[in-house]
Amino acid sequence: MTQSSGMTQSSGMTQSSGMPQSTSDTLHAAIIMDGNGRWAAARGLPRVAGHRSGAEALRRTVEAAPDLGISMLTVYAFSSDNWRRPQPEVSALMRMFHTYLRREQAKCMENGVRVSVIGRRDRLPRLLIPVIDECESATTQGEKLHLRLAIDYSSRDAILAAALRLNGDATRERLSQSLGGPDVDVLIRTGGEQRLSDFLLWECAYAELVFTPVMWPDFGAADLAAAMGEFRSRERRFGALPRAALA
Ligand code: FPP
Repeated sequence: MTQSSGMTQSSGMTQSSGMPQSTSDTLHAAIIMDGNGRWAAARGLPRVAGHRSGAEALRRTVEAAPDLGISMLTVYAFSSDNWRRPQPEVSALMRMFHTYLRREQAKCMENGVRVSVIGRRDRLPRLLIPVIDECESATTQGEKLHLRLAIDYSSRDAILAAALRLNGDATRERLSQSLGGPDVDVLIRTGGEQRLSDFLLWECAYAELVFTPVMWPDFGAADLAAAMGEFRSRERRFGALPRAALA
């Protein structure tokens, strides 16, 4: 696990675009699930086999998250830039989202997982929309974990749309509210790259960034625990002085 920033010691604080709040047991983790293609290529498999194994990694991660203090998990499943990929890969991913949502719905209901999809819906395949709606409404009571799948998602587009909705009456708090999700406490990116790729840019203003070389299909409970351990070893200062200096 490598890191891009950080001090030592856990703070358990987060920033909701106003005052920091103590939320150590209700963390928002976000994951850029990168490395599916390289994982597949290394095994002489088609890229879509990497995505398929990536879906299994997501299931393992969702199962492990609540015990690590995560109450919201937002994962980057398909960026608005991913439409530029070859059409067969895009279609395979859309079919995978369809299958995943249908297959996991009952399990999510059983395990208290609420599922939401963020991002644009107007460009998604027509048959995917009712499956999303059904999964969202069937799991709405889930209180153990809120899983948000970002599909056809662009943070810049989301910020722009939120600002336009506020129609000149924007404040930090209103813009956060209009975006619809809390600030991110920890952003994890697998696959060894170290960039944000237009994911939750506003919400990550004070996030701790954790980068790991593990390819997403290999990611599991132990990797999530290691990432959260790294997160908890940081002192979050939100621009203030280190605790040691204030003592
Ligand atoms: C990035 O890896 C991954 C994606 C663009 C797709 C993410 C999708 C999944 C993990 C499938 C499962 C998700 C759900 C919701 C069922 P990449 O293909 O860019 O990998 P590379 O950088 O190695 O080429």
